[in-house]
Amino acid sequence: MRCPLRSNERAGLHARQFSANLFPSSTMWHGRFTQDTSSLVQQFGESVSYDWRLFPHDIAGSIAHARAQQNAGLLTADEFQKIESGLREIEKEILDGKFEFKTSLEDIHMNIEAELTRRIGPTGAKLHAARSRNDQVATDTRLYCRTQIGEIMTAATKLQYALLDRAEKFAASMMPGYTHLQRGQPVTAGHHFLAYVEMLERDKSRLADCLKRLNICPLGSGALAGSTINLDRQAIAAELGFDGVTSNSMDAIADRDYIAELLFTISLCGAHLSRLSEDLILWCTAEFSFVQLSDAHTTGSSLMPQKKNPDVCELTRGKTGRLIGNLLNLLTNLKGLPLTYNRDLQEDKPPLFDSVDTLKLVLAVNAEMVAALEMNEEKCCAAASDPMLLATDLADYLVRKGVPFRQAHELVGKAVAESIRTKTPLDALDLAAIDPAYGPDAAEVFSVERALTARTNPGAPSVANVRAEISRWQKQLA
Ligand code: ARG
Repeated sequence: MRCPLRSNERAGLHARQFSANLFPSSTMWHGRFTQDTSSLVQQFGESVSYDWRLFPHDIAGSIAHARAQQNAGLLTADEFQKIESGLREIEKEILDGKFEFKTSLEDIHMNIEAELTRRIGPTGAKLHAARSRNDQVATDTRLYCRTQIGEIMTAATKLQYALLDRAEKFAASMMPGYTHLQRGQPVTAGHHFLAYVEMLERDKSRLADCLKRLNICPLGSGALAGSTINLDRQAIAAELGFDGVTSNSMDAIADRDYIAELLFTISLCGAHLSRLSEDLILWCTAEFSFVQLSDAHTTGSSLMPQKKNPDVCELTRGKTGRLIGNLLNLLTNLKGLPLTYNRDLQEDKPPLFDSVDTLKLVLAVNAEMVAALEMNEEKCCAAASDPMLLATDLADYLVRKGVPFRQAHELVGKAVAESIRTKTPLDALDLAAIDPAYGPDAAEVFSVERALTARTNPGAPSVANVRAEISRWQKQLA
């Protein structure tokens, strides 16, 4: 059986082969059984068609385990050498796409161990002492998550840089800020882009937090109750770069919290990018025309020659549904499981791998698209020049004249109603005729530049603030 690989998988991993029934499935447990596993059950239960990607972690874990076996006097130095070099050979063959995986051997763990034993003989059969596939898969999966968290953080930082670059270019481009998708108050495009830099930074800090909890080694927990052969767990953990060892063998085997946390963090990051997508989709409508996405990041229509569609944004929004689905998939799996290992847990990997692959691709494509987008500054500025955007500033003006805010709100509301009724722009009304509280200087409120410049408090969108934030981010991300 050949397995089609995703394009974003490491180079050299194409041409991976899968075959069925080359080894009788009873190889690993033939003592107890008299019949081979039915081929339909093999097909049903195999996971090697997707968990093969755990191979670098499985091999690292096996080498650390074998070294501890040697230190405990279970292997001679020569036997350890044989195991280590056998495993390294297998690793290289997998990387080169030359290794043949057998679905009859269920998963990556049994494929590697069986092939090692086939190559080096009885020494290979010593490797599984004092471990189980249960602590093995938990270890491999934690190591996989650790590596992937690093890659996701790097991809998120690249997107932050792209947003920062656009924030810098459009730091002073005025545009309306919206609530309820109704024009609210003036902001700048730079401030808007920086909002997404903030979200991604929180995503990264959630990833770092998740990493802290998952970087604890479960190896040595055995099937569920440790082992009568006590290997040096601390040494194994240290070799694998873990910060410590798990404290309860049953919890360590049953625990998939780290996957749930990672899937949640990925889902939330997806939700942030889905919101960015929604902004961009709206902004590139003819009705808004605030943004111009590059040809390279949009698609045409096979029928309507004029179309330029924001497919990257729409797919980002759509794929986020899958990310959230993957989180629910795992939580639903976990909620009914008694301690400790249950085979249901094998189903943790398809959603995990899918979410990790999807988010990395979403981050990369969005970084490319954001870096190339251009704001239509004239359109943004025209929209930001709507005097209604300064109605709140007019109320603030009255407050500064001593009018209580609620009363000021009502007075400005009356002016707005008058503007709508008489079809007169708010800034062209005779405000003093509406209320004597309006002085002759009230007209000065109607300058968007002034309105923005006045917003100097931390977090507010004055151009000076936006520029200061950009240099803060540049330092922080470097
Ligand atoms: N392929 C299994 C998984 O991913 C490995 C553990 C199997 N353990 C067992 N007792 N069947 O969960």
